[in-house]
Amino acid sequence: MAPQQDKTSTEASTAVTLTINDHTYTVGPEVPSGTRLVDFLRHKIQLVGTKTLCREGGCGLCTVVATVPDHETPGRTKTISVQACQALLYSCHGWSISTIEHLGSRYDGYHQLQKALHGFYGTQCGYCSPGMIMTMYGQMSTSGTLTAAQVEKSLDGNICRCTGYRPILDAFKSLAVDGDPALKERLTDIEEAYKDGCHKTGECKGKCGRKQPGGMCTRSSKLATRPSLVPVLNGPFLTVDSVRWYHPVTLQGIYNALQTLGRNEKFRLVVGNTGQGVFKNDGPYTAYIATSGIKELYTVNNQSPLELGANVSLTRAIEVFQHLATSDPGYLYLKTLADHWQVVANVSVRNAGCWAGNLMMKHTHPGFQSDIFLTLLAADAELTIGNSSDASITHVNLEQFLKTDMSRKVILSISLPPATANTKLRTFKITPRAVNAHAYVNACFKMELNAGDGFKVLTKPTLLLGGINPQFIHAAKTENFLLNKKVSDVKTLLDAAKIMEREIIPDSHPQDASPEYRKSLAVSLFYKTVVGFLGEKVSPRFQSAGPNIVRPLSSGRQSFDMNQETWPVGEPVPKLESAIQISGEAAYLDDIPYHPNELHGAFVHTTVANAKLKSVDTTEAMKVAGVVTFVNASDIPGTNSFVVNAGPFPDPIFVQDRVKYAGQPIGLVVAKDRDTAYHAAKLVIVEYEDVKKPILTIKDALKAGKKHTSMNFITNTREPYTLGNAEEALKTAAHTLTGELSQGSQYHFNMEPHSARVVPTEDGYDVYSTTQWPTETQATTAQVLGIATNSINVSVRRIGGGYGSKISRQHIVSTAAAVAARKVKQPVRVVTDLTTNMTYAGWREPFLSKYEVGFDGNGKIEGAKIELIADTGHVSNESAVSFLFGAVQNAYYIPNLTFTPSMVNTDTAANTYCRTPGHVEAVATIENIMEHIASYLKVDKMQVRLNNMVAPGVPRMFVPPHQKNVVKDEILPLLTTQASIVQRQREVDDFNKNNKWKKRGLSILPMWYGFDYPSMFRYGIQVTIYEHDGTVAISHGGIEMGQGINTKVAQVAAYVLGIPLENIVVKASDTMVGANSMVTGGSFGTDLCAHGVRVACTSLRQRLDVVKEKMKKETGKDPTWLQLVKKCHAEDVDLSQRYWTAGKEHPERYDIWGAAALELEIDVLTGVFVIRRADIIEDSGRSMSPYIDIGQVEGAFIMGIGFYTSEMVKYDPNTGQKLSNGTWEYKPPMALDIPADFRITLLPNAKNPYGVLGSKATGEPPLCLSYAVVTALRQAITAFRQENGDSSWFQMDTPITVEKVHQWCGVNTSQFQLYE
Ligand SMILES: Cc1cc2nc3c(=O)[nH]c(=O)nc-3n(C[C@H](O)[C@H](O)[C@H](O)COP(=O)(O)OP(=O)(O)OC[C@H]3O[C@@H](n4cnc5c(N)ncnc54)[C@H](O)[C@@H]3O)c2cc1C
Ligand code: FES
Ligand code: FES
Repeated sequence: MAPQQDKTSTEASTAVTLTINDHTYTVGPEVPSGTRLVDFLRHKIQLVGTKTLCREGGCGLCTVVATVPDHETPGRTKTISVQACQALLYSCHGWSISTIEHLGSRYDGYHQLQKALHGFYGTQCGYCSPGMIMTMYGQMSTSGTLTAAQVEKSLDGNICRCTGYRPILDAFKSLAVDGDPALKERLTDIEEAYKDGCHKTGECKGKCGRKQPGGMCTRSSKLATRPSLVPVLNGPFLTVDSVRWYHPVTLQGIYNALQTLGRNEKFRLVVGNTGQGVFKNDGPYTAYIATSGIKELYTVNNQSPLELGANVSLTRAIEVFQHLATSDPGYLYLKTLADHWQVVANVSVRNAGCWAGNLMMKHTHPGFQSDIFLTLLAADAELTIGNSSDASITHVNLEQFLKTDMSRKVILSISLPPATANTKLRTFKITPRAVNAHAYVNACFKMELNAGDGFKVLTKPTLLLGGINPQFIHAAKTENFLLNKKVSDVKTLLDAAKIMEREIIPDSHPQDASPEYRKSLAVSLFYKTVVGFLGEKVSPRFQSAGPNIVRPLSSGRQSFDMNQETWPVGEPVPKLESAIQISGEAAYLDDIPYHPNELHGAFVHTTVANAKLKSVDTTEAMKVAGVVTFVNASDIPGTNSFVVNAGPFPDPIFVQDRVKYAGQPIGLVVAKDRDTAYHAAKLVIVEYEDVKKPILTIKDALKAGKKHTSMNFITNTREPYTLGNAEEALKTAAHTLTGELSQGSQYHFNMEPHSARVVPTEDGYDVYSTTQWPTETQATTAQVLGIATNSINVSVRRIGGGYGSKISRQHIVSTAAAVAARKVKQPVRVVTDLTTNMTYAGWREPFLSKYEVGFDGNGKIEGAKIELIADTGHVSNESAVSFLFGAVQNAYYIPNLTFTPSMVNTDTAANTYCRTPGHVEAVATIENIMEHIASYLKVDKMQVRLNNMVAPGVPRMFVPPHQKNVVKDEILPLLTTQASIVQRQREVDDFNKNNKWKKRGLSILPMWYGFDYPSMFRYGIQVTIYEHDGTVAISHGGIEMGQGINTKVAQVAAYVLGIPLENIVVKASDTMVGANSMVTGGSFGTDLCAHGVRVACTSLRQRLDVVKEKMKKETGKDPTWLQLVKKCHAEDVDLSQRYWTAGKEHPERYDIWGAAALELEIDVLTGVFVIRRADIIEDSGRSMSPYIDIGQVEGAFIMGIGFYTSEMVKYDPNTGQKLSNGTWEYKPPMALDIPADFRITLLPNAKNPYGVLGSKATGEPPLCLSYAVVTALRQAITAFRQENGDSSWFQMDTPITVEKVHQWCGVNTSQFQLYE
C-alpha cells in the first residue's frame, strides 16, 4: 500500500456526527474527549435502556447495534453488535446506532426478539435483557438468518446471573432457521396470544402506553432502520479538552498526525478500542487517531498469499478464513485458525476489534496470552509496517515484530502463505470457562509429517506456547529434537515430552493458574496433538486423547402441573415487569436522570490489608477541574459505621485509623461527573505505616489463633449443638474416618452494581439505593448523619440482582453518599464500578469443614462430629454458620451428632450472605462425607446415601420428624426413571472402559431443605383499590430483584379478589408502607409478602362481599367488580387494607425436597469438562407461578455450578488485595457452560399443606443441588485414577477449576502411550 497525500489533515473541525435511533447528533468539544458511547447514550441523551457494569467488554450489558461503512465494498454498510462501553464517542463519526429503545416498546410495539424473550420467561432482574436482545439483533442484522448453533455461540459475551441462560437460549433459538419445532410452536403461540395487540379493542393504535401484565400490547414487529451515513470527516482533527482527535482518511493522514505528536506524547490509534478492556491502565492519552476512515486498512486480498489490512475485524477475518479453507487446499489450515479465533473474546469484541490492535497489545504487553499472535505466528504470517517519518515500508515476521520499535509506526497489513499438503496444525486455548476467557495456556503445534513413514517430521516443527512467561514462545529444544524423528514411535514421543517439560519454565503470578499446571498442560497438549495427528494408528483407548470434548447443542425441558383450580395463582404467566425489561424501560437506580446540580462520588480505597493509615494526600486530586470535595471519616457527623441491625459489631464506612482490609474505603472524591470523580480518586496519594502481612485464609487464621466458636442460638451458649452421644458412637463404630473440606468464596455478581443517590430535601434526605433492605438503609443513614429516622425516605423500584450482596454491603455506598450530600448540600450519586464493587464489599463466606464419622459395614452413620468454620472477614456480623445444624443433616439421619459452628476473622472485607448461605456448604459437607464413606468401603455411593436416609417420624437434631421422606420415596424413584439412570450409568461405565483420556461421571444428589420462617422476618403490606376504575395497587416491604416477588403477590391478589391480573400493579417499595420491614432474602420475602397480600386481600374481599350481598339482594344479580367498588366507596367502605406480617402469624414451617442427576465428561489431559446433562426434580409445592419457579431453580443451580467450578477468588498474598476484581479475572458461568441437556421438573401433586396457597419457596434450595457437579467430577476423576492403580480418597476442595481436575487426575508424561 503506497502512502498517499492527505492534504487536509491539519485542518481543524469542530464536531463528529452520528445517528442514534434515527436522530442525528453533532457532538463538539463540549463532550469530554474520552467519553464512551455508553455514557453519551445513557447520560447525555437519556437512552438508559443500554446498561453498563464492567466497562471492559466482559459482560455484554452495554451492547448496541451499529451500522458502519463497509470499506471493503465502497458505498455499502454493515451492521454489527458492538459494546458501547468500549467505543469512544469521537470514533463513532458516521455511525448509525440502534439501541434497545429503537427496537420496540410498549408504545410502538415490540420486536420479535423482545417478544420471544418475554414469552419464554427469559427475564428475571432484567438488567441483562437489553444487552442480550441487542447482541442477537446485531447477529441477525449481520447474518440475516441464524441457526440454533449460531444463536448459542452468539451469546458468548453476555452474562446473566439470574436465569441460568436456558430460557434466553430457547427464546432466541425459537427464531433460528433450524430451531427445535417445539420451540417454534411455542413462539407461534406467543405471537398468536398477542396478535394485533389490544385485548380490549382488538385493535392497537400503539398509543395507550399501557403495560399488559402477562402479555404485551404489540404492533407488528418493527425493524430498526438503516439510515444513510453522514460523509466521513474530511481528514481533519478536533481538539477536545486539550486532547486531539484525528480522523485521517488516507494513510498519509495517519503519518501526518503521528508526526505532529510530541516526542513523549501518549497516543492511541483507535479501531475498536477494545484493547482498553484488557489493559485498563494504559493511557491517559493526549491524542487519538481514529483509523476507520482509511479504506486501504480494510483490504482483503483472497489470492495467495492471503492479505488482510490492519483494520480487518476478527469477525471478518474468520469469514475469510472459513471461505479460503474450503476453496483453496493450500489454506485448509485456516479452518483451524477460524475455529480458534471464534473463541477469542466475544462476538461484539470480534466485530469491533481488529487483529492488528491485538498484535499491538502483545507488542506492548509481552505477557499477554494473545491467541491472534500465536496463531498468526504458526501460520508464518508476515507483517507490513509503515513508518510515518518517511512513509517507508518494512516486512517482518511476527517474532521480529515483537522486537521492532513501533513508535510512530503503523501496522498496515499481514500476509498468510499457503501451507504444504503434509502440514498439520493443531491449536488450543485452555480457559477457566468455555468462552469469553483468556487462556491459561494457548498453543499452536505445526508439523510437516510423512504419514507413510511412521509420521516422520520432515521439517523443523513449530511448537508455540502462550501463557508460559512473557519471553517464552517456542519450545525450541523440542522442535530441534523432533526434526527427522517419527512421532509414531513411543520413545520419541516420551523423549520429546520430557525435553519439553524441561524447557518450559512458567512464571508465577498469584492471579494465574499454577506454574505446575501450565507446564503439565503444555506437555499434555503436545501429546494430544500427536495422538490427534496419528489418528487411528493409535490404539482405540488412547485415541480419546486426541479430540477436544464436543459440546452438543443445548436443549431444555420443563415440566410442571397445570392445575387451573387457583389460577391466576399457579398459572404460568410472564413476570409482571418483563414487558418493560425487554424494551429497556424498566428503571434502575442509575437510570434516574441527573438533577442539574447533582454530583458524583468515587471511592478512594486502601491497597494493603493490615496497616495503619499514615497520610492521605488529596492535593493532586483536588486540582482536577470539576472536583468539588473529598469526604472522609472526619466528615461523618454521627457514627462511622454502616451497620445497625445487620450485626452486633460496627463496621466503618471510611478507615479511621487501622486498615481492616485491602479495598476498604478511605474517602470519597466528589466531582461534577463520574469520570472526573474516578480519575481524581486515582490521584489521591495514601501512605501506610506498620504494614503487616495479612491473614487471608481460614487455615492461616487458625494458626494465628483467630477462631471463635459461634453462638448456639438454641442454648444461647457457645457450646456445640448435640444429639445423642457422638463421642461414644465414634468409639464403638466399626469404621471411622476423619477428613476436611475447604469451600471457597463467591462474588454475587449482581449485574446492577451497588449504587445510591442521596437528595437533600426540605425535611431531610431522599435516599435511592440498590438495597435489599430499605429499613436498614434508612437506619444506617440516620445513624451516620446523626439525625432522626423519620427525616429519611428510602425508595426502591427494583434492583438488578441482589443474591445477598445488597443486604448490608450496599450501605457503605448509601451512607458515603449521604455524608457527601450533607457536606455539599447537593444531591450526590455514587455508582460503583465493577472493580470497586468487587473489592470493597465482602462476598460469600469461605468455609472449612472438619469431620470425624463412625459407621457400620453398610456405611450407615452411627455418630459424627462435624465442625464448620466460616471466614467472616474482618468482623463477624453476617455468618450463616450457626444456623446449619439442620442443613448439615441434609436428608439423612445421624443418631449421634455434635455440630460445632465456628468462625475466624481474616484481614479481608466482612463477608456476607450469598444465595443459600452456609446451607449449600453444609449440604456439601455431609455429601462429601457420604462419598468418603463409600470410597472407604468401596461400595455404591447411592446405596450409602439410601442407607442413611431419615425415616418418617424420626426426630433429628432440632428438626421435627417428617411425615414422609419425599426425596427417598418419591423424587429419587421418579428421577431414576425420568433420567434413565440405570441405563446411562451402564453407558458411562462402558465409555470409561473404552476411553483412556476422557472420563465420564454420573451422580445423583438428594436434598432436604428445612424452611422455617424466622419470626423477625416481617413486612408491611398495603393493598388499595381505586374507586375510579377498580384497578388495584399493591405496595409491600419486599424488594423485586428478579425473583418474581411482584408477580407472585399480584397473582395472589388477583386470585383472592377475583379480578384479572392485568388490573393489578405493584408499586415501588418504600419506608412508609414498608416501614420497619425486614430484608428480602432467604426466599422469605416472596413467601411472606404473598402471605401478607393474601391476608390483606381476604380482609378487603370480606368487606366487599358484605356490600355485594346487599347489592345482590337489591338487584337480584351479581354486581360487576367496578359497580361493587363504586358502591363500597359510596358507602364509606375503606378500599385500602394494610397488613403487617407479624412473626406470630407466620405460616408453619415446611420441608423442601429435591434431587439432581448430573452427567459430565472430562478431558483428563486438560482438565476441561462439559456438563452433558442435568435433571432436577424440585419440590415447589403447588407452584404459585411455575415459570418463575423454574427460573429460580435453573438460576440457582447454575450459580452453584459457577460456585463449585469456575469462580475462583484470588488475593495477593503480600498486600491482601483481591486480584479477582473484574470480568477478565473472575469467571461466572456463561451460556455455553450450562448443561447441554437441562431438564427441570417441579414435583407433581405436591401441594404444601402449609406455606402460601399450597406453594413452597424456590429461590435458594436448588443451589444445594449443584454440588452434584463435584460428585460427578469425583466419579470421572476416580475412574482415571483407578486405571492407574490409585483408589485412594482425595480431598476435593472447591472451586474445582479445570486446573484442579487435571491435577487430581495425576497426569504424568510416562502415561503418554500410543499402543496397548
Ligand atoms: C473482553 C475481551 C476479551 C478478550 N479475549 C481475548 C482472547 O481470549 N484472546 C486474545 O488474543 N485477545 C483477546 N482480547 C483482545 C482483543 O482481541 C483485542 O482487544 C482486539 O483485537 C483489539 O482490536 P481493536 O481494534 O479494538 O484495537 P484497539 O483497542 O483499537 O487498539 C489496541 C492497540 O493497538 C494499537 N493499534 C491499533 N491499530 C494499529 C495499527 N494499525 N498499527 C499500530 N498500532 C495499532 C492502538 O494504538 C492500541 O494501542 C479480548 C478483549 C476483550 C475486550
Ligand atoms: S459494560 Fe460493556 S461489556 Fe460490560
Ligand atoms: S435477568 Fe439476567 S442478570 Fe438478571
